[in-house]
Amino acid sequence: MSNAPTVTHSVDADGIGWIVFDDPASRANVFNPPTQAALRAAVEALAAQPVKAVVVLSGKEKIFIAGADLKWLGKIGHAAEGQQASRDGQALFGLLDHFKAPVVCAIHGACAGGGYELALACHWRIASEAKETVIGLPEVGIGLIPGWGGCARLPRLLGAPAAVDHILKAQLLPAAEAFKAGLVDELAPAAELKARAKAAALALAASGRPARAAAAPADAAFFADQRKAAFSRLRGQPAPLAVLDAVEKGAGLGLDAALDLEAALFGEIAAGEVAKNMVHVFFLKDAVKKLTVDAWFPKPADAHAPAPFKSIGVIGAGVMGSGIAQWCAARGYGVILSDTSREALDRGVAVIRSLFDEAVKRGKMSHDTAHRCMGSIGISTDLYDFGDCDIVIEAIVENVAVKQKVFAELSGIVRPDCILASNTSALPIDELAATATNPGRTIGIHFFNPVSRMPLIEMVLSPHTTRETADRALAFAKALGKSPVLCRSSPGFYVTRALFFYLNEACLLWEQGVPTDALDKAMRDWGWPMGPMRLIDEVGVDVTDFIYGEMRHYFPQRFRGATVCSRMLAAGLKGRKNGASTGFYTYEGGKEALNPAMQQFASGAARAMDAKAIQDHLNGVMIAETKRILDEGVLKSADDADFALLMGAGFPAFRGGLMRSAKSVGLC
Ligand code: NAI
Repeated sequence: MSNAPTVTHSVDADGIGWIVFDDPASRANVFNPPTQAALRAAVEALAAQPVKAVVVLSGKEKIFIAGADLKWLGKIGHAAEGQQASRDGQALFGLLDHFKAPVVCAIHGACAGGGYELALACHWRIASEAKETVIGLPEVGIGLIPGWGGCARLPRLLGAPAAVDHILKAQLLPAAEAFKAGLVDELAPAAELKARAKAAALALAASGRPARAAAAPADAAFFADQRKAAFSRLRGQPAPLAVLDAVEKGAGLGLDAALDLEAALFGEIAAGEVAKNMVHVFFLKDAVKKLTVDAWFPKPADAHAPAPFKSIGVIGAGVMGSGIAQWCAARGYGVILSDTSREALDRGVAVIRSLFDEAVKRGKMSHDTAHRCMGSIGISTDLYDFGDCDIVIEAIVENVAVKQKVFAELSGIVRPDCILASNTSALPIDELAATATNPGRTIGIHFFNPVSRMPLIEMVLSPHTTRETADRALAFAKALGKSPVLCRSSPGFYVTRALFFYLNEACLLWEQGVPTDALDKAMRDWGWPMGPMRLIDEVGVDVTDFIYGEMRHYFPQRFRGATVCSRMLAAGLKGRKNGASTGFYTYEGGKEALNPAMQQFASGAARAMDAKAIQDHLNGVMIAETKRILDEGVLKSADDADFALLMGAGFPAFRGGLMRSAKSVGLC
């Protein structure tokens, strides 16, 4: 590790002091005790010299300052320690705020959390218009609150409503939006940033610090509404509520007292369990970048980066196939999509077009890009068109024999190095691969529905899958911008198995008389985005019933299948899928209500079960199944299980992960 300072300073011939963040040991600048010490030294050195003004900037290509070092923050053990960490950072930035000359912050690249709190302590903020420049306070997204002046200074700059909105949304804004929102004062082309920052510094040196109008206050009703919304949307997570306290109470205080309040609140939050859980989740997500297949295969003698794929084949233009084709095309791949009939392909293409339209509407891509990507998808009813594909992903009907037939046919058509992948949600890959010549190139690539929104991919390794196949498929999953988890082929892999054991148990409770809304409310209150009965409606009663059948087939000793879904199907209640609008709930006119028709399937009197008992019972089933899955070696670690449920089933991040939360209450 280099001993060179992470922050340097100089004074130019015009009397402008320069403070440059450029950690020589890292691609990013982050705040930790050495960087804080280096900044203090730089500010104190400039304070001892005759400078007219100061400019703070970064020497990195893509990052201004990415925020505080989370490894360091994650170690805060108790509230007093957190409070002190907050006070130290506030005091450091106070040196800039109270500097004898004006200070300009020149932002190019990511300016997040503590990086933007530094900018807030400066007297003028100018940002480059480059696409890598993103700005804001995302702390609430990892269970923390801005603790180095953000809660105190942003409302004074923007007014309380806009500041609360920004901090609670926890999103970084592109430079133009940050300018519009008032987070920065000026925009400049990246190439001119330094010169423009110097010009601003000289102007402030001549005119003095800019006078800023007093920001709009907010009334008690605003904060009451925000608290109510935070409770219902975020299940009472502590960080958003602490932000509201800091802003509301801080508004009536002088800046120093507001900073004291912020430090006390930060200490409590940073030492709390929710922040620890969410920082843990941050690291689980971050680990994906470095994920390899090393845990599953012996190390090869000569490792080399796999050649990127160019052409992707997708078989089946239904729900999943069209979603996969669209996602691949949007990531720049050439795609051939096939189905058995022209009508099925037309339906798939219409779905793909609507996905691109939606992406354009949501500002995810330009109209031109969407048009170009749409043009990179070819359609065919003939598997011979897959002759030049690097990988073919089948997403056809969930039936072993049909999938085996397709794998056998494909084997004779594709190149010998073409990977044959299945998107099956439950079938063991080795069974499907039984008919493929060279089964070493077969693998499961299990996307989740809807593909455009769900980040998880289960990469399913059969006993035949070679290291080379796994390496290439993993590189592909990462290039798609998805979050892969590796698992061994086994019925239902991980997420489907754990989730459907849980859903089945909820159905069994329902059959014993526990009401739909009691089950759903209990699990929502625990943090799941929706309750189990509502989830069955969403997945489809048909799909649920089918997977129950699969689970019964593969786990006959343990899967006590509920019957309510089969009975619902027989009565035409399919859930909410494909235009169907009745299941456990009705959805007439977009309004969700309990379905009275479900009475016909109830077997007896309603059974009262309190929320905690429901939560313990249903989470307990999922925990028990996950333990078995880990014992069987389907996944390599509890972290993998936690990551998969977070990314594939909406497990609440503030709980840190299923097995982590089970451990915290002594369940494993
Ligand atoms: P779907 O029924 O919407 O689409 C299947 C498509 O495959 C249909 O267009 C059908 O015409 C076509 N097809 C059937 N046999 C074919 C063949 N021999 N050759 C070419 N095309 C053929 O089904 P969906 O929901 O897209 O599921 C596809 C696969 O993805 C299944 O294995 C399913 O288990 C899996 N899956 C489904 C998820 C879901 O939520 N729907 C989630 C993850 C995986």
